[in-house]
Amino acid sequence: MKTDIFSLQTYVQKNQANIIVLADEHTMNYCYPLLLEEVPYFNVPYGEGYKNLDSCEFIWKKLAEFGATRETILLCLGGGVICDMGAFAAGCFQRGIRSVLVPTSLLAMVDASVGGKNGVNFMGYKNYIGSFNEAEEIFICDIFLETLSYKEKVNGYVEMLKHGLIADRSHYDQVKMLFLQENQHLENQLILDSIAIKKNHVDQDFRDQGIRKRLNFGHTIGHAIESFSLKINDENESLSHGVSVALGMIVEGYISTEMAGLSKDELHEITIVLQRVVSGISDDIPTYDDLKPYLLKDKKNTDLGINCSLITSIGQGVHDQYVEASLIKDGLEFLANLK
Ligand SMILES: NC(=O)c1ccc[n+]([C@@H]2O[C@H](COP(=O)([O-])OP(=O)(O)OC[C@H]3O[C@@H](n4cnc5c(N)ncnc54)[C@H](O)[C@@H]3O)[C@@H](O)[C@H]2O)c1
Repeated sequence: MKTDIFSLQTYVQKNQANIIVLADEHTMNYCYPLLLEEVPYFNVPYGEGYKNLDSCEFIWKKLAEFGATRETILLCLGGGVICDMGAFAAGCFQRGIRSVLVPTSLLAMVDASVGGKNGVNFMGYKNYIGSFNEAEEIFICDIFLETLSYKEKVNGYVEMLKHGLIADRSHYDQVKMLFLQENQHLENQLILDSIAIKKNHVDQDFRDQGIRKRLNFGHTIGHAIESFSLKINDENESLSHGVSVALGMIVEGYISTEMAGLSKDELHEITIVLQRVVSGISDDIPTYDDLKPYLLKDKKNTDLGINCSLITSIGQGVHDQYVEASLIKDGLEFLANLK
C-alpha cells in the first residue's frame, strides 16, 4: 500500500503503456486529472445502481476494444462501487488481469479497497456475485477527499467508527469528534489507523472464517436495509451504504445489550453519535418483514440462523452470534423510536 499522490503519479508514469483507467462520471472529472498522465480511460455512470453485471459486461467490452491483454493493469479510480466492480471485472477478464485500486471516497479508502473482497449486486442482493482477489497495489491519497462532499464523507466516518467500536476505543473517540463537527480536518494518520484495524483482521483471516467477521458489525441488518431501500427507491435516492450500516449498528448495538453484555450506557453513547445519521433520512424504518428476505439470504448465515457480529463493549467485537427474529424485531423497533 502506498500513501501519497506522488507515488501514484510515478506509478502511472512508469506503467502508462499498460494502464487503462476505469472511473465513474464524478471521479473522471475530479480525480483523473490528478494522475497527470494521458492514460487510456473509460467511465461508467456513478452510483450503487450501476454496480451490476451489465456494467461488468460494459467494462469487459471496453477492455476488449482497448486491446487489453494479460499485461494490462485496470486502474480503478473511484469509490467503493468502482473498486469492488473493477477488481471483480479485472479478475474475470481473460481469466484475470491485474488491478490497481485508487480509492477516492473515504469509505473506499478505509474499507472497500482493503481486504481483497470484490463483486457486484445481483437480483437485488448486495455483493451476491464476487470473489476474493487482492489488487496488485492500493494507493491511499487523501488529496482526493478535497472534492468529496460531507454527505459522502459520512459514509466513511461510519466505517471508521465501526473499526473503533470493534477493536479500539481511542480510535472510536477520535473519529467521533470529527464526525460530530462537520468542518474538522481529517488527518491522513487517522485514515491509516483505521485501515490498520481492518488490515489486522484481514491478515489474520483472509477467507472470512473467524475474526474477520467482526468487521461485519452493523452489516447484517445494514445490508438488508440497504437492499430493501434499493428495491423501493430510485437508485440514486436509496440509502447509502454508510447510512444503512449506521442504522444497522444501532440495531445490532441494541441486540448486543441483550445478547453480548454491552452496557445500556454504552448503547446510549453509540446511539447519540449515530443518531446524527438517523435524523437526516426521510425513509420509514423498515420492519422485520420488509427485511426478512434479505436477512435470510445473507451470505454469513448457516443452519444455525441469522449470523451477526456484535460488540461486548466499545472497542471489543465478537463474531458468530446467532440472533432470533424476535430480537431483530425489538432492535428495529428501538431504531424506529429514535426517529
Ligand atoms: N469490498 C469491500 O470490502 C467493501 C467494504 C465496504 C463497502 N464496499 C462497497 O463500497 C460501495 C460504497 O462505496 P462508496 O460510498 O465509495 O460509494 P460510491 O463508489 O458510489 O461513491 C460515492 C459517490 O462519491 C463520488 N466520489 C467518489 N470519490 C469522489 C471524489 N474524490 N470527489 C468527488 N466525488 C467522488 C462517486 O462518484 C459517487 O457518486 C458499496 O457498493 C459497498 O458494498 C465494499
